[in-house]
Amino acid sequence: VAFQTLATRDQIGAEEVLRVETEVGPIAICNVEGDYYAISDTCTHEDWPMSDGWLEGHVLECTLHSAKFDVRTGCVLSPPASCPLQTYPVQVVGDDIQVDISAAASKAGVA
Ligand code: FES
Repeated sequence: VAFQTLATRDQIGAEEVLRVETEVGPIAICNVEGDYYAISDTCTHEDWPMSDGWLEGHVLECTLHSAKFDVRTGCVLSPPASCPLQTYPVQVVGDDIQVDISAAASKAGVA
């Protein structure tokens, strides 16, 4: 397990999503009521940044065709996407938001 700091807490306001470029591609870090979740920032429907999306509770909606995903699991909640988003483990150490981009936290199926 190799966590690395990708952001600090002050970079992601309440109900906001931050795009971070990493060696495994762009990752979106979501702030859900002070809990942080990291997912692939590329919608599985087409190549579109999920960090542009609307975050409401644990649900992130793609702005291009309105697919919805659960940021906790990556599961698809609403079409047209059919494949889940990759998720990554997150830990908060002080003000640092650390993500293990080497690990696939979840191979969640379609909801
Ligand atoms: S690109 Fe996200 S729903 Fe189509």
